Amino acid sequence: MTKITAAITAVNGYVPPKILTNKDLEKLVDTNDEWITSRTGIKERRILADGLGTSDMAFEAAKGLLEKRGILATEIDLIVFCTVTPDMVFPASACILADKIGATNAFGFDLSAACSGFIFGLETGSRFIQSGVYKKVLVVGGDKMSSIIDYSDRNTCVIFGDGCGCVLLEPNLEGNGVVDAILKVDGGGRHFLHQKAGGSIKPASHETVDAREHFVYQEGQTVYKFAVKGMADVSAEIMERNNLTADDVAWLVPHQANLRIIDATANRMGVDKSKVMINIDHFGNTTNGTIPLLLWEWESQLKKGDNLILAAFGGGFTWGAIYLKWAY
Ligand code: UT7
Repeated sequence: MTKITAAITAVNGYVPPKILTNKDLEKLVDTNDEWITSRTGIKERRILADGLGTSDMAFEAAKGLLEKRGILATEIDLIVFCTVTPDMVFPASACILADKIGATNAFGFDLSAACSGFIFGLETGSRFIQSGVYKKVLVVGGDKMSSIIDYSDRNTCVIFGDGCGCVLLEPNLEGNGVVDAILKVDGGGRHFLHQKAGGSIKPASHETVDAREHFVYQEGQTVYKFAVKGMADVSAEIMERNNLTADDVAWLVPHQANLRIIDATANRMGVDKSKVMINIDHFGNTTNGTIPLLLWEWESQLKKGDNLILAAFGGGFTWGAIYLKWAY
């Protein structure tokens, strides 16, 4: 029997129109364009309007994806919604998105793996396709990071932005799609990157709000050290395991946390900078949104059979890499 692989057959993205530049941030905190650009590679990021949630961005992205692929929302079997900023703690944003786009035949769930969420979701969705039972799986990655960012904390507010992308997975019999995945977690890393309050240990209270504990807390340097090693190691490991040389890799699609981490990963893989997708300069770190937004922006340059390495590192810690053959 021919092996079924899960191929990406459509991709789309959405970012809100409002732009927050480094100059704008200079008015909010003690920072400057030079520091942000040289330390992170970020110039500007997008901010979603008050009153809208991550599912509103996902709605725009998914609606466009369905049009591009020429299918109805009712044909979708499963929605995997990767986010750390769901519209609400519950119900899952996957349910809300299904309702908004009219995916009345789908089931769905949210997947929480911070910045590695989208690649965890891609592997998850891929296994549903491989089972032969599910034919159309929508994997969404997006975050309204501005909803959990403290715009008086210069350590974090310069880094993150809002955005959402999504891909459609369908069965492929030519060997294109997800070929291999190496995914990891280490909960020991939770101390260095987290949101202190709003969960079951520390529900929201006047005290938690006063202590500004509903925002991202990050010990940047420590996370940086783990991220740079984790992302580079796992990217090299997946190349080795699949006998891929740098020449075989058409594109590196890295999570966009810091341009220096991206450069270190590309160097370790021996992949030339011209083959590295980068959108951190104009979107910042959109957490679950970075990788699908890159695929969306680069879609016209991708060719059938291209070898892509997707790599990410995030809170948890979570990290991993996926080897994917582009299918169209
Ligand atoms: O996506 C999920 C995973 N996250 C990551 O991978 C993020 C990993 N970490 C990083 O990317 C970097 O650590 C940051 C970009 C967050 C910070 O860069 P850094 O080079 O590690 O800076 P630092 O935290 O060591 O701070 C260096 C200095 C400090 O001043 P002193 O103590 O040397 O006087 C900071 O207070 O820079 C200061 N600083 C700033 N200065 C101007 C911190 N933030 C700012 C700022 N503007 N926005």
